[in-house]
Amino acid sequence: MKVFVTGGAGYIGSHTLVQLLAAGHEVCVFDNFANSSPVALDRVRQLTNRGIGLVEADIRDADALRDAVTTFAPDAVMHFAGLKAVGESSSLPLLYYQTNVSGTMNLLAAMDAAGCKRIVFSSSATVYGEAHYLPFDEDHPIAPTNPYGRTKAMAEGIIGDWAKATAGASAVLLRYFNPVGAHESGRIGEDPRDIPNNLMPFVAQVAVGRRDRLSIFGDDYDTRDGTGERDYINVVDLAAAHLAAIEYASRAAGCEAINVGTGRGITVKELVAAYERACGRTLPVEIASRRPGDVASSYAATVKARDLLGWNAVLDIDAMCASSWLWQSTNPDGYGDRQ
Ligand code: NAD
Ligand code: WQD
Repeated sequence: MKVFVTGGAGYIGSHTLVQLLAAGHEVCVFDNFANSSPVALDRVRQLTNRGIGLVEADIRDADALRDAVTTFAPDAVMHFAGLKAVGESSSLPLLYYQTNVSGTMNLLAAMDAAGCKRIVFSSSATVYGEAHYLPFDEDHPIAPTNPYGRTKAMAEGIIGDWAKATAGASAVLLRYFNPVGAHESGRIGEDPRDIPNNLMPFVAQVAVGRRDRLSIFGDDYDTRDGTGERDYINVVDLAAAHLAAIEYASRAAGCEAINVGTGRGITVKELVAAYERACGRTLPVEIASRRPGDVASSYAATVKARDLLGWNAVLDIDAMCASSWLWQSTNPDGYGDRQ
């Protein structure tokens, strides 16, 4: 299959490219490297010994996007490109709506121009907002609590309307829980700019000595040990879910939202303990106050992914920490070209 991959140089996109290429698909990446490095694509080429088409441009540029999609003439699109920092989305909301919402509309218009009818979209469990019940299933009310989450909910709605209006169209909205870990080679991984917002990359930087200590944001939640509980999903399992989704989109019409998680919650303290096992030393932590907007627990119902995609997560928290540590310890400055 010919697969057009927006945001393919990013954390999740690069891991998915490895599996797409290994499965024999032909890919074209569309990325402006706003939050990624061309080195990631070089590493994917080395890992797979396969070529990767690249168009360096912005998804807000509708003409460039239409030209790229019509020239490549893909069988399917994977849409990873977007901005994802929750805090930044509150200070720069228009940038987020332009990139995540208008960018998605530009992509659908480009697909129409090229006659491409299949899309797999990177959505987020953040669209659910506060939990009315757990685990989150796909029928849980959608009520995001920040601009980033609203861009994802809007993009989901737009893709759903497009799929309804387009004969033979098929869309899969993958709602990721908390992606972590790295390719088992340690050659590609997550390379956040500045201070990491998310727990696992922060812990990784503490382990490698780039940060003094981890602040645990609250130990008085109603969980096993008082710390926040999340559904961490290995990025390699997540990449496999994309390949299953593209196969599903080839045989089914319509639009489906599908959770991608393990179905199990891990607390902050449990994740730190697993990381200590992976790196072989005790990590300095302090208890800090709760982070505004955080919930106690979040984890996925995984039945729909199993039933529709035939996919389930197989890698556990120790494997997630081991691969993260291999990446971080062998690439202490990430791809090394963005500091
Ligand atoms: P990432 O920042 O590593 O990757 C996003 C890619 O999109 C980057 O390569 C970036 O350069 C590119 N990009 C950004 N703006 C662009 C633009 N205007 N034009 C072209 N390319 C642009 O992030 P990621 O973690 O790989 O996330 C991929 C997708 O998954 C995003 O849409 C994100 O919202 C979604 N998601 C991520 C998480 C997570 O925790 N990592 C969770 C849920 C959903
Ligand atoms: C996990 C747990 C924190 C950092 C975010 C986005 C969400 C999605 C995934 C894109 C929580 C605790 C964290 C630290 C800590 N992204 N923590 N110390 O908040 O579940 O989700 O990333 O779609 O939209 O909101 O993930 O990794 O930030 O936090 O104690 O330095 O770790 O309080 O309990 P979160 P996270």
